[in-house]
Amino acid sequence: MSNQNSNVSKKGLIFKEGDQLEELYKYCGKYTTLEPPHLHSLNKWAYANNPHAGMLVPPGEGLLLSLLVSLRRPKVVLEIGCFLGYSALWIAEGLEYSEANPGRLYTVEVFPETAEIARQNISRANKDHLVEVINKPGQEVLDNWDSSVKIDMIFLDADKSGYIKYYDTVLERDLLADGGVIICDNTLFHGCVHPIEDTRNGKPYETPSNITEHIYNFNVHVQNDPRTENVLLPIFDGLTIIRKRKSVSVEKSLS
Ligand SMILES: C[S@@+](CC[C@H](N)C(=O)[O-])C[C@H]1O[C@@H](n2cnc3c(N)ncnc32)[C@H](O)[C@@H]1O
Repeated sequence: MSNQNSNVSKKGLIFKEGDQLEELYKYCGKYTTLEPPHLHSLNKWAYANNPHAGMLVPPGEGLLLSLLVSLRRPKVVLEIGCFLGYSALWIAEGLEYSEANPGRLYTVEVFPETAEIARQNISRANKDHLVEVINKPGQEVLDNWDSSVKIDMIFLDADKSGYIKYYDTVLERDLLADGGVIICDNTLFHGCVHPIEDTRNGKPYETPSNITEHIYNFNVHVQNDPRTENVLLPIFDGLTIIRKRKSVSVEKSLS
């Protein structure tokens, strides 16, 4: 997709004509399964009561997370960036597909009051047996994670300035299970990241000063890392899915 003669839509992605993407999103929403009632109520409540509700993953992204979880049937999932527990409850939906032996989600939130609200939302949905809220900074959780407990899926959705260190810690401490994935949200950040490519051409910022620059550096960092393979999907606000390579001999290309 070229960004010539294009507009940035409300949802953030570049499309040739302004309204097309909005229309496309509406159409996709129309043909996507609705949220279950407890998630719908939480979403509505958040938008009515929390000025930061825009941070919630959109329902379609929640359903995608749930689908990925049900496909992988993970034992251990880690989310960094819990907020009100909305995406955590979507992940719990996916965990419930392994009825006999459902895995567990550990979801990390740095602010105590927010973590407490998330706990209440998770209890209200009767998912305490599947989800545990950890009130700590994400980096501290990764630094102290017992590396004998491998993580099947990690969902990164917290401070974007921390993404590179989160990612490096996971790989350096060998925390991922075989075939485990890291799913990173907002990697197109409102359509602001990819236009930078024209001027930076893959050169990271030495001192990134805003979210867009942090995400730009993260995308470059991951792409240049021979330890992993990754796909940046132009869906929602940009979603990158990463796994460790079986072998590190194949080089990635930055084209
Ligand atoms: C985008 S919101 C997460 C939204 C959530 N995943 C959802 O869709 O329902 C990011 C959350 O990460 C939290 N956060 C920010 N920095 C953090 C850090 N260093 N460690 C853990 N959580 C952090 C914020 O307080 C905020 O609640």
